[in-house]
Amino acid sequence: MTRKPFYGDLDTSIRTLLLAQIRNLWTHTSTAIEGNSLTLGDTAFILEEGLTVAGKPLRDHQEVIGHAKAIEIIYALMAKDQIQDKDLFALHRAVLTDAVVDIFKPAGAWKNEPNFTTYISEDGRQRYREFPAPRSIPILMGQWLRMLNAALQGDLTDSEAVQVYADLHLILVTIHPFFDGNGRVARLIANVPVLQAGFPPIVVPTEARQGYKRMISDYQATIPDLSELKDLNTLPDNAERQHFREMCQSYWEPTQTLLRQAQTMQQHLVAGRVSG
Ligand SMILES: Nc1ncnc2c1ncn2[C@@H]1O[C@H](COP(=O)(O)OP(=O)(O)OP(=O)(O)O)[C@@H](O)[C@H]1O
Ligand SMILES: [Mg+2]
Repeated sequence: MTRKPFYGDLDTSIRTLLLAQIRNLWTHTSTAIEGNSLTLGDTAFILEEGLTVAGKPLRDHQEVIGHAKAIEIIYALMAKDQIQDKDLFALHRAVLTDAVVDIFKPAGAWKNEPNFTTYISEDGRQRYREFPAPRSIPILMGQWLRMLNAALQGDLTDSEAVQVYADLHLILVTIHPFFDGNGRVARLIANVPVLQAGFPPIVVPTEARQGYKRMISDYQATIPDLSELKDLNTLPDNAERQHFREMCQSYWEPTQTLLRQAQTMQQHLVAGRVSG
């Protein structure tokens, strides 16, 4: 059974403000990790006023608006007990706002070309790491969706919710099923079980960017042949994965603080009504 959402006890006025604060923070941090130049203030201004920030790239504005739309999709998914690949594709289309049509850069579909990242190996050299091959993606993502769906409606405790979030997030970015937008989609979709369990979303802070990417890379370094990955059950559950879970726990603080502030405002409101 789905629990009451984290904003469920708040009056509409306070709920609206809290949801806007969370949307602004989530959108700002996730797009900034990806290189967007807009500040939290700019992001709030664009989303709340519908105006542009002079001198800032059009693309950065579009990314922010796309991400805010993707959050709407996430809240709509809270009501579901099954999530399918078409739901992931809708999110992908929302975050990828580039209008240019390129068959090697499909928006709303799995990648059709191999993709890579680089890292610095223990001997101090720069090396390539290849993500799982395009032909393996439908099977891997089928497994990943089963993991996600098993976690839905699960009445998770807070520590279970963090673990589920961290594992879904880490595994999705390790599969890297899209040509681009993998990080943003992961930072959104891994929160559906968290939200369904009645908690505010876990939002990776912009300041954590370097450590966050490093931890993901460190985990991938423990996978024997990532490009040949065919079964998620073969992925290691080790100290690197545990470290990522612990960091995700710490990333939760800012939205919990926003929720507590809103609850305090709610108490003032109720006390005012009783005494008034
Ligand atoms: N080896 C790695 N090093 C750093 N990040 C990685 C690695 N593997 C996967 N990732 C994840 O992939 C994301 C970058 O991938 P991609 O460019 O597809 O996503 P994005 O949403 O466009 O960008 P970003 O996640 O940077 O916002 C990182 O944020 C991280 O979540
Ligand atoms: Mg990118």
